[in-house]
Amino acid sequence: MHELIESNEVPYFTSLGMFIIDEINFPTFKVDGILGGGGTFAICGSRMVLESIESRKCAWIVDIGNDCPSDILKEIQSWKTGAVFRFDDTRQCTRGWNGYSKNEFRMFKYLTPKKRITMLDFEKYPWMLQSKSFHFVCSPSRCIDLIKELEEISALNQIKSTNAVIAWEPIPDCCTPEYLQETLGILQKVDILTPNAAECASFFGEPEPTDKLGCETIALKFISYMTKPNSGIVLRCGSLGCLLIESGNRKNSWFPAYHTNDPSKVIDPTGCGNTFVGAFAAAFVKHNKNFKLACIHATIASGACLEQHGLPKLIELKGGITLWNGISFQDRVDLYIKKNKL
Ligand SMILES: Nc1ncnc2c1ncn2[C@@H]1O[C@H](COP(=O)(O)OP(=O)(O)O)[C@@H](O)[C@H]1O
Ligand SMILES: [Mg+2]
Repeated sequence: MHELIESNEVPYFTSLGMFIIDEINFPTFKVDGILGGGGTFAICGSRMVLESIESRKCAWIVDIGNDCPSDILKEIQSWKTGAVFRFDDTRQCTRGWNGYSKNEFRMFKYLTPKKRITMLDFEKYPWMLQSKSFHFVCSPSRCIDLIKELEEISALNQIKSTNAVIAWEPIPDCCTPEYLQETLGILQKVDILTPNAAECASFFGEPEPTDKLGCETIALKFISYMTKPNSGIVLRCGSLGCLLIESGNRKNSWFPAYHTNDPSKVIDPTGCGNTFVGAFAAAFVKHNKNFKLACIHATIASGACLEQHGLPKLIELKGGITLWNGISFQDRVDLYIKKNKL
């Protein structure tokens, strides 16, 4: 086992999600060997927002097994993030199976043993403990454990509490009535709760809401439990876009999806939710907890993630301009704001 530390800058955003190589099965075809994983997508989202100048402030631990294709490794390294790569020849990469039926409903299972990232892992990389935000994709019990571990390990390492923003994506398996009370019970420690609409509804044993009112009704059930200052729920609603409810004013704001009229752009929704959260958290902490800007940036990053299987392709032009699938992030922002009159 050896490691490669790409940076020790204090991050804006740290994901505890994993790097996974995906097989993705659609009703009539499948693709395999695709770059994926909740950590990878979230980091790509944060990377789009932070641009090349701050790319090292997107931090994550990347576990590379003995079967990692070199083009995948090269692609991740081309983002120049604040990654710590851990190379382990004794295991395979974490591999996942994704299956879609209809309605973007995704089934998932692991094909090889996963290697979870824990808070303890960060003791070796203490700059990451000072991150301005963290991304957890997990059950409610793991979420609260991670928050406690972050506090304890930071104290042990004499790292002053940074009051990091916690962005929590509950895993779909735990979005059931059985986990509802536990979930509500930890929201006082969470800054951003971000399930998708189907997951949010399934906490109440209900089907995915099909319209905005249905999404609002379900999201509102959580908001009174979110008591941290500057906290809120950001409900990801597929082609409807996203719904923001801040705990302070409890006002609903909708952000339409980036791709609405051109179905040829919506190639693969795998990971667009994780990409959304990474972009949201990075923009939120960079821009002084501005919810609106974070929602706009998150929507645009997730839109770029839909344009292909895996992640959008980064090209760096001379002069430091970065293109994602041929368009700069700023151009995407300008287009989106103009189109939606925001
Ligand atoms: N079919 C789609 N058409 C357009 N945009 C989409 C589509 N699916 C997802 N998105 C965009 O990606 C964001 C995140 O995806 P979403 O489906 O809401 O979460 P998840 O990936 O967890 O299911 C949405 O808020 C929306 O902006
Ligand atoms: Mg979806």
